Amino acid sequence: MKILGIETSCDETAAAVVADGRKLLSNVVSSQIDLHAKTGGVVPEVASRKHVEQVGYVVDEALAAAGVGLDDIDGYAVSNRPGLLGALLVGVSAAKALAYARQRPLMAVHHIEAHLYANWLVEPAIEFPVVALVVSGGHTQIFRMTGHGEYAILGRTRDDAAGEAFDKCARALGFPYPGGVSIDRLAKTGDPARVPLPRAWLGDSLDFSFSGLKTSVAQAIRSGKHGDVRPEDWAASVQAAIVDVLVAKTMRAARQEGVGRVLLAGGVAANSHLQQAMADACAADGLALTAPPPVLCTDNAAMIACAGYYHWAAGKIDGLDVDTIASEELA
Ligand code: KG4
Ligand code: ZN
Repeated sequence: MKILGIETSCDETAAAVVADGRKLLSNVVSSQIDLHAKTGGVVPEVASRKHVEQVGYVVDEALAAAGVGLDDIDGYAVSNRPGLLGALLVGVSAAKALAYARQRPLMAVHHIEAHLYANWLVEPAIEFPVVALVVSGGHTQIFRMTGHGEYAILGRTRDDAAGEAFDKCARALGFPYPGGVSIDRLAKTGDPARVPLPRAWLGDSLDFSFSGLKTSVAQAIRSGKHGDVRPEDWAASVQAAIVDVLVAKTMRAARQEGVGRVLLAGGVAANSHLQQAMADACAADGLALTAPPPVLCTDNAAMIACAGYYHWAAGKIDGLDVDTIASEELA
C-alpha cells in the first residue's frame, strides 16, 4: 500500500511516499523559512501563495525520488486540520484532485496525530499503551495512547506552546529566525545555569505554562544585570528552562500511567538537548523511548502518509467533500 502524503498546514510545502505505513520511499520538504525570515514570522497569505506555487513541483519530486509514478500510488493522505486555513486548502485541494482523478482513497488526517505517527516510521512495532509528548509551534500536550487512533489527554499548555516559548525568547534575545533552531545551535556551548530562569511546575498538574518565561527573559535583559552574558549562555539557560519541565512532566505521566514506552513528537522534539535529556530520563526509569530523527520531527509529509496508512487500515476513508479546519483538538 503506497500512500502519497501532502502537508501544507503552515510554512512547509511537503510531499512524501510511504509504503505500508513504515517504509519511507521519499520525503520532500520545501521550506518557506527564507521567505518568512524577512517578517520574523509566518504571514498566512504569503504562505498560502507560496504553497500554490510549490505544491505541484513538490509532489512531482516526491514521486521521482521514490522512483514511482501516479499509477503506483494506492491512496492519498493530507493534513486538513488544524492549521492556517488558506494554507491547508492548498494541500487538501491537491490531494482531492489526485484522489478523484485516480479514483483512489483519500485520508484526511489531524496534523498533531501525524506528528505522533512519525514514531511509527522509526519503530513500527510499538506496543500500547504509551505516553507521548507532542511539542510544536502551536501545541504542547501529553497524551496517553491506548491503540491506533485512541488518545486521552493528560496535560496541555495553558498558554504558549513550547515552540512559541523558544521562538519568542529567541526573538527577545535577537537570535535569527527560526528561534528554536538558533537556540539549539548556540546552547551547545553555553552554560545552562548562567541565567536563573523560572520553571512553572503548576503543582501536581501535568499542564504546562510557558508565557512567564519570555517575560522573565525580557525583564532579565532590561535589568541590565546580564550585559556580560554570552548569547550561548542565554540560549542554554532558556533551553534548560523549557526542557526541564517537558522532561519532568512526561516522566511523571509515564510513571502515573504505568506505561513501558514514551514517544516524542513535533518540531521542538528536533531539539538535541530535549532528545538527550528524555533519553537519559527514560533510561534511568527503565522505559523505552521512541524519538524520530529531526527531519521527521519538524513538519513533513512522511508522517502524514504514515498516519493516513493507519486510517486506511482502520477503514477511515474521507469523502471529496472533507473540509479544512483551523482549530480542533486531537482529544
Ligand atoms: O511541528 P513544527 O515543525 O510546526 C508546527 O506544527 O508548529 O514545529 C515548529 C516549532 C517552531 O516553534 C520551531 O522553533 C521549533 O518547532 N523547533 C525547534 C527546533 N527545531 C524546530 N525548537 C527547538 N529546537 C530545535 N532544534
Ligand atoms: Zn507541525
